[in-house]
Amino acid sequence: MKKFTLTGMTLLAGFLGSAAAAQDSRIFDVSLPLGAESHQAVGVLKFGEELERLSEGRLKIRPQYDNALGGEREVVEGMGLGLIDMGITSTGPMGGFAEPFLLFDLPYIFQTPQQAYAFLDSEHGDALARTLHDAAGVKILAWMENGFRYETNSVRPITVLADLKGIKHRTQESSVQVDTWTALGTNAAPMAWTEVYTALQQGVMESQENPIPTIYDVKFYDVQKYLAMTQHVYSPAPLMIGAQLFESLSPDDQAIMIEAAEIATPVQRAASKEMGERLVGELETLGMQVTRPDLAPFRAAVQPVIDKWKDTVGADLVDAAMNTQPQQ
Ligand code: MLT
Repeated sequence: MKKFTLTGMTLLAGFLGSAAAAQDSRIFDVSLPLGAESHQAVGVLKFGEELERLSEGRLKIRPQYDNALGGEREVVEGMGLGLIDMGITSTGPMGGFAEPFLLFDLPYIFQTPQQAYAFLDSEHGDALARTLHDAAGVKILAWMENGFRYETNSVRPITVLADLKGIKHRTQESSVQVDTWTALGTNAAPMAWTEVYTALQQGVMESQENPIPTIYDVKFYDVQKYLAMTQHVYSPAPLMIGAQLFESLSPDDQAIMIEAAEIATPVQRAASKEMGERLVGELETLGMQVTRPDLAPFRAAVQPVIDKWKDTVGADLVDAAMNTQPQQ
């Protein structure tokens, strides 16, 4: 019987090792609704950097900015069907897949980012992730964020609630959001994110709401004069991967993905905070008029919306979110 020499064994092991490495190399396309300078991109790029480092260059990402792979709902569907690898999206369209996600459409549930982090980083965030996995075949790797949302419009400054009356307002694709903005007095209708800028530009819509870094990233200041600090909803932006794709990876590569996501999450949240604070001033410089209305009448106006939807979302979940103590 032929004996392998040490050199022969080493060569064979080296060959098998490099064959395995070649087999395990992969580039994941990642969909983003925003651009390369956005707070979403900070998180995705940090995730990609860590993925590459931890896998010694075998696993990489290819960001697909500004909805290049489709609107948010299509991207979630696409990941579930195995047509799209990965994506970061707001939770706006997710209530259509799993009703507990409507929690993030209910107004004035979270008061601070730290309260939202404490909730999302607890067993409640894990349970919501399992719900989406079962409903849509999508795995949440990280609870990154879009952040608190604020109203903008092209009609008038919002100094009191009554100023919203009759304004044509775009909501995300969520009945809870339509109810909220109807209760606030607007003429509200849902519209996919990919159509919003053009609708505002053409006057089909006069108003929308999004976090400050988003308003800046997509240049809403070119088509919206007024920004009201309504802070009505906290919007997570989960980083996700198709569940089948994730489960097709080796256990080691699954662990690398999870570790990369864990490292990237606080980096993304910090960038979101910094940009949210800094860019209000930038938006003013760019010509937006910022108002800070008393929010008590806003909260009172939307209480019936919370009452209407609480059981559908899950009363225990809503109570848990509202009663969560801020993360230190
Ligand atoms: C939207 O308004 O549809 C989203 O907030 C867009 C986004 O995720 O950036």
